[in-house]
Amino acid sequence: MPTSDDAAIKKVDGGDGQFFDAIARRYDLLNRIMSLGQDGYWRNKAVKSLELPEGGHFLDLATGTADLAIACAKRHRDARVTGLDPSAEMLAIGRDKVASATLSERVELVQGDAQALPFEDNSFDAVAISFGIRNVPDRRKALQEMNRVARPGGRIVILELSEPRRGLLASPARFYIHHVVPRIGSLLSGSKEYRYLQESIAAFPTADAFANLMREVGLTNVNARTLSFGAVNLFSAHAGH
Ligand SMILES: C[S@@+](CC[C@H](N)C(=O)[O-])C[C@H]1O[C@@H](n2cnc3c(N)ncnc32)[C@H](O)[C@@H]1O
Repeated sequence: MPTSDDAAIKKVDGGDGQFFDAIARRYDLLNRIMSLGQDGYWRNKAVKSLELPEGGHFLDLATGTADLAIACAKRHRDARVTGLDPSAEMLAIGRDKVASATLSERVELVQGDAQALPFEDNSFDAVAISFGIRNVPDRRKALQEMNRVARPGGRIVILELSEPRRGLLASPARFYIHHVVPRIGSLLSGSKEYRYLQESIAAFPTADAFANLMREVGLTNVNARTLSFGAVNLFSAHAGH
């Protein structure tokens, strides 16, 4: 069910990738700087969780500039990878990166919305979304779609930023998210709206609540674990239909 925070996300993103179109050229740099160089490590953890079979087909939702799609194609040399995102500008940069990595034959990027996937049922061996589910207004619908297009028993992996709530580093980490990230984001992206990042992280459900939502749409073996002292949640499950 959409919340007022979802409305804030829609406002900056237009629900169709306009916000990401505007920051696309600086997105990778922003990611490296604001994650303190951790984002590649987080995506590699997600790729390792995919359990992709030989010759498997992987769907990367909210692929953006295709970092997760490329990381998967590099780790699984015989995999086919489809990346989907509404932002034409993010996809354009992603396509250049795919071409530079000589992966164009195995990695295809398409424009689309995670809430209404243009794929047949049971089409993929694994489906993931990294740092994207936060931006999707109807998360339940996106999870239902992930479950639908994955083959029965296929792997579902979700990587998402979180507000560390426990431990010694929780307080400095929250200060970093609330005060440092929006300033660096605005400065580097040229977008006053970069507060969206902090707002959307704060608005995201707790790991337990999100794991329950995953169960409610029929996913099985739902597991949630934290990375980097709670800065990131890695959810995994199997398609259950
Ligand atoms: C923070 S970026 C993450 C990009 C990439 N997955 C990564 O790991 O860097 C969020 C992406 O979500 C995309 N997005 C926004 N709304 C979406 C939707 N309804 N369906 C799919 N992707 C969406 C944006 O266009 C943007 O590229």
